[in-house]
Amino acid sequence: MAAAALKGLILSGGKGTRLRPLTHTSAKQLVPVANKPVLFYGIESLAAAGIEEIGIIIAPETGGEIREAAGDGSQFGVAITYIEQDAPLGLAHAVLTAEPFLGESPFVMYLGDNLLRDGIIDLVEAFRSQQPDALILLTQVPDPEHYGVAELNGEQVKRLVEKPKEPVSDLALVGVYMFTPAIHAAAKAIEPSWRNELEITDAIQHLIDTGLRVDPHIVRGWWKDTGQVQDMLDANRLILDDLQEQVEGELVNSRTEGRVVIEPGARLENSTVRGPAIIGAGARLVDAYIGPYSAVGENVTIERAELEYSIVLNGSSVRDLDGRIEASLIGKNVAIGRSPELPKAYRFVVGDNAEIAIL
Ligand code: TTP
Repeated sequence: MAAAALKGLILSGGKGTRLRPLTHTSAKQLVPVANKPVLFYGIESLAAAGIEEIGIIIAPETGGEIREAAGDGSQFGVAITYIEQDAPLGLAHAVLTAEPFLGESPFVMYLGDNLLRDGIIDLVEAFRSQQPDALILLTQVPDPEHYGVAELNGEQVKRLVEKPKEPVSDLALVGVYMFTPAIHAAAKAIEPSWRNELEITDAIQHLIDTGLRVDPHIVRGWWKDTGQVQDMLDANRLILDDLQEQVEGELVNSRTEGRVVIEPGARLENSTVRGPAIIGAGARLVDAYIGPYSAVGENVTIERAELEYSIVLNGSSVRDLDGRIEASLIGKNVAIGRSPELPKAYRFVVGDNAEIAIL
């Protein structure tokens, strides 16, 4: 009998509490990095590794938006099945929720808010050739106490420890895993953790404890979990570092320096964009300066203002600021500007958990 084809499982449910307020209204996996949703990088890596069937775990609140963005998968050359997880009860719970979709197939599990520079082709090849029961992706980190850490025994994983106080290694788990169907029984055998989640690290430890083989695979290129604002900005920097220059919009008395993408329909007047930076379709910059590592979304307006090392989502506007905006993540349809009305005062209409820093 031929071996079942490798499937993909992308986890795009969860609460996203660390990326509030953006996640009050939107899925964190759809926040753009270099003007493309984080989730799309994951789908593309799976497609590049030859995976044709992808299940995407979605939460009831944000699932609709994810379905709308990724559709049936044809834009990526894959077939997508959406799997609703009633509540974010952990990564191993997500695997159990997906069991009817996964069946007896081996699969790659990919966290929908993670980015891996070099994709997963190497990993899939190692899984196919070495045929372990599971394969986990690891990377060296300077602060292992903040991660799930793997202790190795020669060529195999011996033990996984969540956020160890005294780390036994500096190899942290990256959000990409390869499993055989043995993971289903392991996910059923474990108990919820102190945070009431079925932890994937416990399920993998269960595989090891029952005598199955879990191989490590060390990542070479960078890996980024975009769960927090600083990580999002850093991921944006890393992706923009590989940008190819392409100026298609209209430049009026304006210039670009270095690797800059100006998408079609964007218009620059008396403005400078210093790369690496990307300006989305339909954006309008007037008397503006956009500095390195900035991603300006579609239909954004920036007038008489400066912006650097920041992400601005579609439809927002920034006008008439005295100081430069830096290290900022600005949501969709946000308006930042000056009020001409007296009395002279700051006027805000700001959602929950927003952060504003004024000079
Ligand atoms: P996390 O970032 O660990 O969890 P979270 O999304 O709940 O975020 P926060 O800690 O900020 O509240 O999740 C990693 C990925 O897995 C992310 O894309 C969300 C997804 N996920 C699920 O799909 N189902 C789940 O039950 C959990 C816990 C996460």
